[in-house]
Amino acid sequence: KRILFATSEAVPFIKTGGLADVAGSLPKCFDKRYFDIRVILPKYACMKQEWKDKMEYVTHFYMDLGYKNCYVGILQMEYDGIKFYFIDNEYYFSGPKPYDSAPWDLEKFAFFSKAVLSVLPVIDFRPDIIHCHDWQTGLVPVYLHDSFQQNQFFWGIKTIMTIHNLKFQGVYDVKTIKELTGLSDYYFTPDKLEAYKDGNFLKGGIVFADAVTTVSNTYADEIKTPFYGEGLDGLLRARSNSLRGIVNGIDYNDFNPETDINLSARYNATTFRKEKVKNKIQLQKDLGLEQDPKAMMIGIVSRLTDQKGFDLIAYIMDELCQDSVQIVALGTGDERYENMFRHFDWKYHGKVSAQIYYDESMSHRIYAASDAFLMPSLFEPCGLSQLMSLRYGTLPIVRETGGLKDTVEPYNEFEGTGTGFSFSNYNAHEMLSTIRYAEHIYYDKKREWNKMVDRAMAKDFSWSNSARQYEEMYNWLIGE
Ligand code: ADP
Ligand code: GLC
Repeated sequence: KRILFATSEAVPFIKTGGLADVAGSLPKCFDKRYFDIRVILPKYACMKQEWKDKMEYVTHFYMDLGYKNCYVGILQMEYDGIKFYFIDNEYYFSGPKPYDSAPWDLEKFAFFSKAVLSVLPVIDFRPDIIHCHDWQTGLVPVYLHDSFQQNQFFWGIKTIMTIHNLKFQGVYDVKTIKELTGLSDYYFTPDKLEAYKDGNFLKGGIVFADAVTTVSNTYADEIKTPFYGEGLDGLLRARSNSLRGIVNGIDYNDFNPETDINLSARYNATTFRKEKVKNKIQLQKDLGLEQDPKAMMIGIVSRLTDQKGFDLIAYIMDELCQDSVQIVALGTGDERYENMFRHFDWKYHGKVSAQIYYDESMSHRIYAASDAFLMPSLFEPCGLSQLMSLRYGTLPIVRETGGLKDTVEPYNEFEGTGTGFSFSNYNAHEMLSTIRYAEHIYYDKKREWNKMVDRAMAKDFSWSNSARQYEEMYNWLIGE
């Protein structure tokens, strides 16, 4: 069976968030005897030269898009046993970052989505299923329905739309979208691409895909409600028969405290009691924090946006900093959150460290060095950071939403169960008392804490379970 992943990002080539981790690591986890999985993504000018040098030119042609006639270059690379295709067009993909703003991004990804289909006969790869990810590829099922079905090559190709984040939908006024996509009036009614009078790429994907998935069970339920539904909850309720949640995994080789070259001391489930703390000591030294191996270190690695609950953190930071804790934050995003962390770094120097940049290696060091990991998201389709923390024996403190609820089991001191700490309401003081409860266990019941680390590290959030679920879904869609 042939499956094509269409995505706007994938590690190691380009990453802005968890989608890249998923699109880069999941394809490797399918049973190669039955599945030929390939991945297609744009060739961005901002990719590292190292990758661009390894891409091999296949061919090019021209494709109509709206009123434009566009160059479509195809490059390819085999990486870690997976074939990756890259769509080249310097007009669309030359920016300093993969994403910019609407309507430019909409035109860019309309181009990409149409190109994904156009290249297939050229490279002679007819997938049974095209697996689309997020709004950037929402038009793939739509174009497939529109023009491509006239060509026998495309008959019977199925599509899956996976929602990694419903917040981003690719929305603009209908007139502009019609022009830039070249799609006819037929598609712009409220039962198709139109939503609240605008055109909406993700909605198109949800309506026209054969199956819709999202990245955790709880999020699959939540998005059928108005609070989490971002205006599409009605549609998602209507499609609930073909909507399911499959929880994300992470790459257990890339994220492995036993072999991770970024760490000052490597450790596993039996050696962490002695070794893990060495990472904390080294990080305290390097970031200018007070050097105290016993101080409870709370890590944050995140895009700094409203989604991740930073307004709660801003609200209680002064109070939290009265406790004996250290806070290390690594992230970029909204200026007000970047400045918030810089401010507290200045105000509580030695206790708070703000690392306002993107750095893969530093993220690994923080996952390993911290005792707890804070992620109080307003909503969280899945979340990978808490899975990375669990893998490194760093106990997550999370709000019970989406994938956080499905992957972090709250500590129960009476039963001796749990892998982290959680609270349910989006309330700063509820979060603070949960953090303080964690402090209490850390400082006063260290044995219990360490047993929780044992349980956290024993959890399996590699792809093995979830990849089987995707395989089942592929088989079911293909009709076997
Ligand atoms: P989202 O996709 O919503 O950003 P996830 O938890 O699914 O959230 O994935 C976030 C990914 O991005 C994780 O791999 C995390 O380690 C990484 N990440 C976020 N910010 C940074 C940063 N500043 N430096 C390095 N890695 C980061
Ligand atoms: C999105 C979500 C995040 C999820 C990731 C990968 O960026 O915000 O929760 O883990 O996609 O599916």
